[in-house]
Amino acid sequence: MTGVNHDLVAELVESGLDAREARWLVEEFVSGDEFEDLSTLYAAARRRRDGEPIQYVIGHWPFRSLDLDVDPRVLIPRPESEELVGVALSELAQGNVRAPVIMDLGCGSGAIGLALLRELVERGVAATLIAVDESGDALGVARENAIKHDLRAVSFVQSSWFEDLDESLRGRVDLIVANPPYVGVLEFEDLEDVLRHEPLSAIVASDAHGVVGFEDLDVIISGALGWLSPSGTLICEHSNVHRTAVIEAATRAGFNSVDDLDDMAGHPRILVARRT
Ligand SMILES: C[S@@+](CC[C@H](N)C(=O)[O-])C[C@H]1O[C@@H](n2cnc3c(N)ncnc32)[C@H](O)[C@@H]1O
Repeated sequence: MTGVNHDLVAELVESGLDAREARWLVEEFVSGDEFEDLSTLYAAARRRRDGEPIQYVIGHWPFRSLDLDVDPRVLIPRPESEELVGVALSELAQGNVRAPVIMDLGCGSGAIGLALLRELVERGVAATLIAVDESGDALGVARENAIKHDLRAVSFVQSSWFEDLDESLRGRVDLIVANPPYVGVLEFEDLEDVLRHEPLSAIVASDAHGVVGFEDLDVIISGALGWLSPSGTLICEHSNVHRTAVIEAATRAGFNSVDDLDDMAGHPRILVARRT
């Protein structure tokens, strides 16, 4: 293709689409052939105008160094989770484990775990990844993304958090990363429309210990220690109302060193709980 077709972009903008998104759709669905059938482009534009997230309409989206396939079976990976990957890489570098075993709890599209694996492979680190999700649909997408990026050192496990994990993993995982559901049921009512297209089970969590949307975080933080290696670390994304609760839960669980980091927007976001 020699360049984007500006007339088509203008036509989509005229029909009500944002200019940047109109351009993305034309780039995605028009090959530049003069006699092209434009029905796919127009169908995509209609889906976007009807409110479907641009990521699902396009069907893939960048996440760190990966181009991940995404569809309504999985949460659309967020920039905050890209920051979590950066934090995880620094923790691993400090720990200096030669062949780390990593577990991505609630892997969804595979975003966090697969991005970590890719960047570790690029650094010559022989990491292995266990990608866990309760949703068989999500695991299907994660598996497709691993194949797409030729990432082979991955196993996929359908489990509600730690419930159905292989017992032989106890005490052997060097890093657990998780971005669990953490939006309270009532909070969800007030959120943007775009979230209503994503799987509810990826977003909404029950309350626990009187804290809104805290139940899944609580299960993960209180259960992680038994699966971590002696120098293992749990890194967990949470909402900006959870800082006190995650720090208390990690301390109660017996982690020796607990930090909680802000995201780039300055909101409390990433728990780093180290076993030693
Ligand atoms: C917020 S999404 C995160 C997806 C992905 N890690 C990311 O950052 O884009 C939460 C994920 O947790 C999964 N999940 C929800 N409840 C779960 C449970 N009890 N056990 C395991 N996974 C669960 C959902 O299916 C979803 O894929």
